Amino acid sequence: MKGVRFLATGSGLPAKVLTNADLCKIVDTSDEWITERTGIKERRIAGPGEATSDLSARAARIALDRAGLRADQLDAIVVATCTPDHLFPSTACLVQKALGVPHTIAFDVSAACSGFVYGLAVVNGLIATGAAKTVLLIGADTLSRFTDWTDRGTCVLFGDGAGALIMTATDGPSDLLSVALSADGGKGDILKIPGGGSRHPLAKPEEAVSFPPVIKMEGKEVFKHAVTRMIEASLSALERAGRTPGDLTLLIPHQANLRIIDAVAKRVNIPDERVFRNVSKFGNMSAATTIVALDQALSEGRVKSGDLVELIAFGAGLTWGAAVLRWS
Ligand code: UT7
Repeated sequence: MKGVRFLATGSGLPAKVLTNADLCKIVDTSDEWITERTGIKERRIAGPGEATSDLSARAARIALDRAGLRADQLDAIVVATCTPDHLFPSTACLVQKALGVPHTIAFDVSAACSGFVYGLAVVNGLIATGAAKTVLLIGADTLSRFTDWTDRGTCVLFGDGAGALIMTATDGPSDLLSVALSADGGKGDILKIPGGGSRHPLAKPEEAVSFPPVIKMEGKEVFKHAVTRMIEASLSALERAGRTPGDLTLLIPHQANLRIIDAVAKRVNIPDERVFRNVSKFGNMSAATTIVALDQALSEGRVKSGDLVELIAFGAGLTWGAAVLRWS
């Protein structure tokens, strides 16, 4: 079985910044409330005509350039997203087209905010079995298109973005040390987009009124599960890797709320300086969150060759997971 070697990362972020002050003009909220309850100060919002595949392709080109690879050297493109450009073709096929590659494996992974960590496990399988040698994994979401801009309980939380990671097969030890994943579909109703799928199709206008294609969330419930499950996933992935929190150079938790990040870091018992936080700048970018954070941490020199990093994610489904990796 082949192991995984990490080559390079990249980010694709929209230019438009939406600040808390901007949000105060849209809904009854305040910078003070948003900062105190979430830690978010601003987020990026996709521009007109900019969709998930556009942000994805931008992140991919940067990662390819840093890896010193041409797109035609990829064997597979996997996009983790819950906001695809279309129900089909997959966003991965659109990215393939944008990169100008004629033939690769290409498909999407749907696990909402946990999608990138789920994607790591999927790509690990592709590489281990020899189905693909060099793989582009993207985490990307454009949740602003599925936001109810009259609901102050959700519209302040999310941002758009994409992050890319290129991996290749190695005969040496794998740099993906472990992945721990889980889900609880029984609690799926506390965070969902009710309309727009096959149950309540938008093609029927009366359905769109009763079941709008926008995020509906029971915030307090989601918060409780996010803390519990992220702690569980973190400890489980560390145990599978045969490591302890003390071995980590950096913990990169899902960036949904600063209070969730702080609670997880405290329980996993990692000092503040080894916990990555960028929620103030980007809000919750769903599947893009952990990979954009890793890309930023690498650019800032907070992760270097040989360092151990853990990514932890939690999202709709409910889904959650964590991965321990050694940066190549
Ligand atoms: O990727 C995973 C998905 N998401 C998450 O992990 C998010 C998890 N949940 C959360 O982060 C928090 O629950 C929220 C930030 C969404 C909400 O914070 P909270 O402390 O749980 O507030 P709450 O929903 O209990 O609301 C408290 C009060 C309410 O007013 P009343 O009923 O006490 O008068 C809300 O109406 O705060 C009010 N409120 C706001 N006030 C100003 C809710 N949203 C806002 C707002 N601005 N944006």
